Amino acid sequence: MKSLFTLNKYFWKYRFRLGLGVVFIIISNLFSIYPIQVIRIAFDTVLNSVKWYDLLDGFQIQGDVYQQITHMLILFSMLVIGLSVAKGIFLFMTRMTIIVMSRLIEYDMKNEIFNHYQNLSLSFYKKNNTGDLMNRISEDVSRTRMYFGPAVMYTINLVVLFTLVITTMLQVNVKLTLYVLTPLPLLSISIYYASHIINKKSERVQRQLSQLSTFVQEAFSGIRVIKAYTQQSSKNAIFENELEIYRDKTLSLVKVNAVFMPLMILMIGLSTILTIFIGGKLAIAGEISMGNIAEFVIYVNMLTWPVASVGWVTSLVQRAAASQERINEFLLMKPEIENLGEAKDGIRGDIEFRNVSFTYPNSNIEALKDVSFKVNAGDSLAILGRTGAGKSTIASLLVRLYDIDKGQILIDGRDIKEIDLNLLRQSFGTVPQEVFLFSDTITNNIAFGKITRSAELSEVQEAARMAEIHEDISNFPNDYETTVGERGITLSGGQKQRISIARAIMSKPQLYIFDDCLSAVDTETENKIINNLQRVMDKTTSIIITHRVSSAIHCDHIIVLGEGEITESGNHSQLVANNGFYADSYEQQLLSKEEV
Ligand SMILES: Nc1ncnc2c1ncn2[C@@H]1O[C@H](COP(=O)(O)OP(=O)(O)OP(=O)(O)O)[C@@H](O)[C@H]1O
Ligand SMILES: [Mg+2]
Repeated sequence: MKSLFTLNKYFWKYRFRLGLGVVFIIISNLFSIYPIQVIRIAFDTVLNSVKWYDLLDGFQIQGDVYQQITHMLILFSMLVIGLSVAKGIFLFMTRMTIIVMSRLIEYDMKNEIFNHYQNLSLSFYKKNNTGDLMNRISEDVSRTRMYFGPAVMYTINLVVLFTLVITTMLQVNVKLTLYVLTPLPLLSISIYYASHIINKKSERVQRQLSQLSTFVQEAFSGIRVIKAYTQQSSKNAIFENELEIYRDKTLSLVKVNAVFMPLMILMIGLSTILTIFIGGKLAIAGEISMGNIAEFVIYVNMLTWPVASVGWVTSLVQRAAASQERINEFLLMKPEIENLGEAKDGIRGDIEFRNVSFTYPNSNIEALKDVSFKVNAGDSLAILGRTGAGKSTIASLLVRLYDIDKGQILIDGRDIKEIDLNLLRQSFGTVPQEVFLFSDTITNNIAFGKITRSAELSEVQEAARMAEIHEDISNFPNDYETTVGERGITLSGGQKQRISIARAIMSKPQLYIFDDCLSAVDTETENKIINNLQRVMDKTTSIIITHRVSSAIHCDHIIVLGEGEITESGNHSQLVANNGFYADSYEQQLLSKEEV
């Protein structure tokens, strides 16, 4: 239960709404008690009048009495209707305050969680799968909402109703009250157990359902591979199997639900019978009136639902507590990358790695070992090396997606931990190795790096021209307003890479990182892009990670990585003279050019 205490701040935030809700609950309950008393009075009065009517048989005024009874009945029924309408209005107001409050809290919580998620470091995302993250922001928040909404509402309602009804009942007859209330706790306990079973079973159904949807989602996104390898029937078989499990779990839930309702009604019936039996005896003894019996039958029926809800609410609260504990587990997590730096000056672009070593925390792979190099502002650095050598790792470390274990990374002579994290990241225009485009228009995908949304179209086009993608875009159905991704057109690998480059250019950074971003582009286009970029790169520091020597030739510095260590460094001619990995690659690429 302790986990729910963290939510008290929301109660405080919406205290006026909650207070108003409590007032409405009290009023609506008063209006549900009054009609019952009217019914009791009506019952007794009519019974009396009928007695008089019988006594006056044969007299002229009998007709008058008849008329009077009719009038009275109409009056009573109008009164009952009026009071019930008033109750309805206040019930509506209760829901409009308390249930609305729970929805507002749900909105706040989702915002808080999403915001927090975005601040958590990459290693957090590596450790937890997306389904789990999604569940906590959707499923778990909805369960917590049930605590703020129905659980709070029914609890307050129960307390108010009990106080009102039981005091009224006790005033009428203590003995009868005690008798008719005995079955109620039994009802409450049995409902608690039943809802426990139902919750457990429906959780199992939920889990199976999410497994099923993950499977379906993967099958749809991987449909090309499935078709190419003609795996349709085997996927079908797996799906059928999963679906069967889902069906069985649902059926077992249906069974419990089916038994549950009749049982409830039986319990309520038993209470009513008890009331009439004992009440009848007392009425015969003259202790209470017939109207009192009618009144009690209605009271008992009125109490059963709230009492039943005790069991239900208890299990709601338990579920909410469990959910909130899961939410808190992430919410109380501190981002590993702390932003303690200052944003006092801009960044010029000198980069230095001093004996940097780094091991990925989740896999314990030592990706960099004692790496040192230096690039002056405005210079370019090419990083080459076999796959898995640690090239992309250098890019990730520069923008502090991870913090290093040993050594120091300096920018403009300052340790990057002393630089404001946002300033640091904004200074870099990174084209990552794995291109990611959002399901949005091309304009928005390119202007994304810009903080203001009012990026002029001409600027976007300029960036696209430099990335040699403008012509391609002009041929798309809606030009720059074409949507890409799931709901739009599918781009080729090279087109995606070039849009990603345009995005980096658009952000007008002080430093560029191109991580293998021309791998899907032919050499001719690559040269054009490099030529275009030369203009902007003159003033900025740029790091070009590549497998092609042709991209590295013109760089001021070149380093070659082998399994996390620098094996060669220098400029083109120095490295060719070195006769190492670089010279070999250069020779091979020259040869393959000659063959073409
Ligand atoms: N997020 C990660 N978590 C754990 N290990 C990782 C992670 N990213 C990379 N590695 C490991 O670190 C090593 C270096 O990877 P890196 O991505 O830097 O190589 P790379 O030189 O960019 O290779 P490529 O040329 O294929 O892109 C590899 O052994 C890889 O398995
Ligand atoms: Mg890489």
